[in-house]
Amino acid sequence: MKVLVINGPNINMLGIREPGIYGKQTFADLLSLLNKTAAEEGIEIEQFQSNHEGDLVDRIQQAYGVFDGIVINPAAYTHTSIAILDALKAVCTPAVEVHISDVNAREPFRQISYAGMACVKTIKGQGLDGYRQAILYLKEYCL
Ligand code: DQA
Repeated sequence: MKVLVINGPNINMLGIREPGIYGKQTFADLLSLLNKTAAEEGIEIEQFQSNHEGDLVDRIQQAYGVFDGIVINPAAYTHTSIAILDALKAVCTPAVEVHISDVNAREPFRQISYAGMACVKTIKGQGLDGYRQAILYLKEYCL
């Protein structure tokens, strides 16, 4: 099984950005967690992070026919990007949305998720472990 993990803007700043909200673990820690999960679950995982909306759309399109599932944290683009929603719909690959923080307990502008409308599940407020949970969910979903 092949899973693509996509992270949007500022996720590369984990550990530095707003640690009270996103925690002290770094982006490197997230990559280690992904590698560990891949090894434990016997899954092939590729990761991609970009601060640019079009690059995220390009990467989703390139996943068509190549990956069995997508884990995506579109970060701020969650709340604005119909382009990412459309790309996820276009490739028709099961996707799980992850948010490190509990977006429901935050500002009103974070209450809408466009990307989530194309996802089979949303995991939020679980910290970095949410990515591991999303991968496990996809593993079951794709059986
Ligand atoms: C986030 C939540 C978004 O609202 C925010 O813009 C982010 C990160 C999260 O993982 O909690 O950048 O997606």
